[in-house]
Amino acid sequence: MKTTTEKFGAAPHQPSLWTRADALKVRADDPTTTQPLVSADFPVLNNDVFIWDTMPLRDLDGNVTSVDGWSVIFTLTADRHPNDPQYLDEDGNYDILRDWNDRHGRAKMYYWFSRTGKNWEFGGRVMAEGVSPTAREWAGTPILLNDRGEVDLYYTAVTPGATIVKVRGRVVTTEHGVSMVGFEKVKPLFEADGKMYQTEAQNAFWGFRDPWPFRDPKDGKLYMLFEGNVAGERGSHKVGEAEIGDVPPGYEDVGNSRFQTACVGIAVARDADGDDWEMLPPLLTAVGVNDQTERPHFVFQDGKYYLFTISHTFTYADGVTGPDGVYGFVADSLFGPYVPLNGSGLVLGNPSSQPFQTYSHYVMPNGLVTSFIDSVPTDETGTQIRVGGTEAPTVGMKIKGLQTFVVAEYDYGYIPPMLDVTLK
Ligand code: FRU
Repeated sequence: MKTTTEKFGAAPHQPSLWTRADALKVRADDPTTTQPLVSADFPVLNNDVFIWDTMPLRDLDGNVTSVDGWSVIFTLTADRHPNDPQYLDEDGNYDILRDWNDRHGRAKMYYWFSRTGKNWEFGGRVMAEGVSPTAREWAGTPILLNDRGEVDLYYTAVTPGATIVKVRGRVVTTEHGVSMVGFEKVKPLFEADGKMYQTEAQNAFWGFRDPWPFRDPKDGKLYMLFEGNVAGERGSHKVGEAEIGDVPPGYEDVGNSRFQTACVGIAVARDADGDDWEMLPPLLTAVGVNDQTERPHFVFQDGKYYLFTISHTFTYADGVTGPDGVYGFVADSLFGPYVPLNGSGLVLGNPSSQPFQTYSHYVMPNGLVTSFIDSVPTDETGTQIRVGGTEAPTVGMKIKGLQTFVVAEYDYGYIPPMLDVTLK
């Protein structure tokens, strides 16, 4: 067997570390890295379904792409159950929060289309019932492959297990709308290996999901980012000097932070079609800092690699914290070393007065950041909330060197195309 080094010519890289010292620099409510307040009177995209993770159709270089003038997004989606006795409280009222919190177990991939990059029209399910091999269709990436409209949808097949899979179909347009055809044969690609990436057997709370394939602008090869945890039995990880970083006196105690072991994984394709993949060591690890680095993705700008990933307050380790939102890291070459943007890594967090207002931020190469509304307080104390399950206002951001700046706010779910492909 040839090693990765022989085949790909790259020296095996060392993962970059997001350290506890980096995370100590996180400042919630810094206006340059905080999402503007989302008003509780937001519009809802569709009253029959909840939507959350939003995946714009794009090409392998990361450009958000429309087809024949139609913008297309894929979303994780679940039915709302306002009349289901299972979701009524003691007074017979719809317990929307419980319904919303249960959504992950019934997540399905849906698509939507638009002429204007907003006000999305309902398309429907991408795969018919029974096509996907597991109960849950979790996040991934739809890639427009060519001007015949072929689309590779990479996503995560979850429960049982967690497998990165792909399914091929085609986008078809008319004057009146868009449909998805095909998407009938799901191909499993890979699962966590237990050597680089933690398995379910090593940790029942493992994460292995959210594929994001891309063509490296420098070497032209096909790679894929994904979310993982660092391999090893739960509780066996060491939070040593490297993971702690340069902390001030009094900040050496790591508590139980060995249980937080997130990483951003990377794999390289052995073939041009992306049917055969080899996992490589993680690009970035957050051992002792955070347990989830979800939906990792890149923006390639100014010859640099801007790596973004979403994370939560509740997944931070003992002694460090930060808002729900998107975090970022930058490097001059694909395999790093990566340094945290804005010193801490925080790029766009929720304001502390509305800590759950949005999540699942996706930074596009035009600096626009889309996300979904989770829940927004409707009273001063924050005890009353309105559940979202719909698109949040898009935020405009400038990426400059090692820093990012919030500079604009746009309409709900505004995801304009960066290029249009005319289908043959
Ligand atoms: C992010 C996320 C993804 C996962 C999906 C499950 O919001 O947790 O990592 O694929 O949601 O619903």
